Amino acid sequence: MSKSVRRVFITNEQSNSRPHAKFKESVRTWLDATGGELIVLRSLYRRNVGTSVEAEFEEYKFDSDWDSYVLDTQQQIGGFLVFGDINISPTTAQPLSGFGNFGRGLNCIFGHCRQHLQSLPTVGRGHPQYMLTTGSCVRNVFNVGKVGSKAKFNVTMGGIILEVTKSGTYFRHVHSDKDTGEFTDLGYTFSPSGVVREATEAVILGDTHVPFQDETLYRHMFGKLLPEIVHNPEDTSIVVHDVLDFDTRNHHHRNTPILTAGLESQSVRDELNKVNDFLAHPRFWGFKDVNIVDANHDRALDRWIEECDWRLDPVNAELMLDLALKKLQSTRTVNGQPKQTAALQLFLEDSFVPQYVNFIKGSMKFGGYEVSQHGDIGNNGARGSLTSFARLPTKAIIGHSHSSGMKDGIIQVGHTRLPAQYAAKGASSWSQSIAVVYGTGKAQLLIFNKRRCTAPATFNLYQKALGPGYAE
Ligand SMILES: [Fe+2]
Repeated sequence: MSKSVRRVFITNEQSNSRPHAKFKESVRTWLDATGGELIVLRSLYRRNVGTSVEAEFEEYKFDSDWDSYVLDTQQQIGGFLVFGDINISPTTAQPLSGFGNFGRGLNCIFGHCRQHLQSLPTVGRGHPQYMLTTGSCVRNVFNVGKVGSKAKFNVTMGGIILEVTKSGTYFRHVHSDKDTGEFTDLGYTFSPSGVVREATEAVILGDTHVPFQDETLYRHMFGKLLPEIVHNPEDTSIVVHDVLDFDTRNHHHRNTPILTAGLESQSVRDELNKVNDFLAHPRFWGFKDVNIVDANHDRALDRWIEECDWRLDPVNAELMLDLALKKLQSTRTVNGQPKQTAALQLFLEDSFVPQYVNFIKGSMKFGGYEVSQHGDIGNNGARGSLTSFARLPTKAIIGHSHSSGMKDGIIQVGHTRLPAQYAAKGASSWSQSIAVVYGTGKAQLLIFNKRRCTAPATFNLYQKALGPGYAE
């Protein structure tokens, strides 16, 4: 066991519910593998078992098995404040609302049967303040009726893993299967019968923004981290948001001649070639394919062609005319509406034949998660948000805001770029993160802290805990 790392599994037990023996055994498997600690945060809830005329409530009861792990005060664990003394109603839909300043600078963890994650803006810290709820360790029982049914539907079995190291505290949710009680962390599935490697279906990268991608992060992610998590890269898809920044001629810079002084001579073609180079990395690091989400920064190239005058931009006039012609030639009329191909796709198809690069059209799902939506456009054309996507009748993974988040089956990845000048003003909730969809159908959000999302020795511990059949 690595003594320099404190590992903690935190989950939530609701009173008057049914114990989930298999999940408890899976947690025990993790504790045995890591030498970690268990913390249980308890929530009070009891059913009305009276008549329609006279209410009568059950006595509060808990599963005594985990009595010794219960935290009923506040405890600081690394950079987190864990609230064992706050009882958030298990039926509330917004368990984190109103707690923004409770951490006094520390990240916060609350016990609740939903798994939510919010990133609150901070000033000058380089990372947000994270607010998390745990997820449940029991089979939650609620009153019959709309409130109880909604609460039951939104229960997520699981917990939070904290790893406290000298260089910082790493954290991630794990999401358990409600039937088997198994959960997957970093490509390893923990079950009552032991630890096995888990296949991966897809890795969704936080917004990339070439040429501002964080090369150091990418080298770590694809050189060290993902080879540990993903043992089947040839079967695993990559999904990319905002692959192009389009800083060269982005409409955000239009009519700002002083701010953008010096950009006049910059070549759009050079910037697009960098996207080409990024995607052309040898078979994109050995993964199956790269799927590009229709995103607002990529669409800025189309807008430039549509709205700007080639005669005023001699450096880029030829490319603009060339792409405009290609767009016109690619236009087809479908059901009386013009249908065009994205300018970025037209450019890339002309540069090299990216057989493993796919521009997502329509729906694309991995493990039940819709991954085709960037997040900028919400329902019926309105502005998108984590909350608006949570109304969809599907789980989804989105990007766009550059802030990591989770809410009722929707995961929002942050970014994988270098810091931006425009985000340095005022408070920021940006963070670097990715999401991994496993063969179990569950997804895990991995948020980076100084380009790391796990303590260094974790993979060694998981490897050692592998059951028979994993001789490596
Ligand atoms: Fe973005």
